[in-house]
Amino acid sequence: MHPLVQHNLTRLRDECSGPQEFRRLMGEVAALMLYEATHSFAVKPVSVRTPLERTRGCQLQREVVLVPVLRAGLGMLDSILQLIPHARVGFIGLKREETTLRAMFYHKSLPLNLSRYEVILIDPMLATGGSAVAAMDLLSERDARRVRLVNLVAAPEGIRHVHSHYPDLPIFTAAIDRRLNERGYILPGLGDAGDRLFGV
Ligand code: PRP
Ligand code: URA
Repeated sequence: MHPLVQHNLTRLRDECSGPQEFRRLMGEVAALMLYEATHSFAVKPVSVRTPLERTRGCQLQREVVLVPVLRAGLGMLDSILQLIPHARVGFIGLKREETTLRAMFYHKSLPLNLSRYEVILIDPMLATGGSAVAAMDLLSERDARRVRLVNLVAAPEGIRHVHSHYPDLPIFTAAIDRRLNERGYILPGLGDAGDRLFGV
């Protein structure tokens, strides 16, 4: 793990980090994670004229759609957009029901026909994996073919659940933690990411 990711993730876990610092740290880790997650994006050759001469260069082969899962995914969006400013942005609103831990949709807003895009699904927490599977079900319905999940903290149970439904989905995470507790929170985790981001 990159030392800067380790350093910022540790500060992110710290219960003493308030919303302002938590937001900043989440953005910084997200940007570092994005570098790895986009490593295999396809590029195509292009020609470019510098002030001195013509040379060969590359450009991304496909357009990019960022899809943060509300709310906590919003904490990673701004810093990722800074790195891919031309990306489109879709939103998936999901809320885990507190007792059943089932993820329920409350918002869906995605570009049409996702088949031609590189899609980056953004959610800092992967606990039971229910939200990620629900988000993937929706992206698959909309014909997404190249999806990566960028995550910060994952539970082994969640990774297993997601890969049992979507074995080919690449998951980029900063940490695989120990396990879930009886309320579906990741241990040691960082608590409720949405609540800490927005100070509620
Ligand atoms: C959190 C988190 C993930 C989900 C992970 O969202 O941001 O989306 O839980 O849990 P799972 O893997 O068990 O589905 P939550 O539903 O609490 O909504 P919030 O982001 O609005 O707080
Ligand atoms: N969602 C969170 O924000 N944190 C967890 O530990 C589990 C789900």
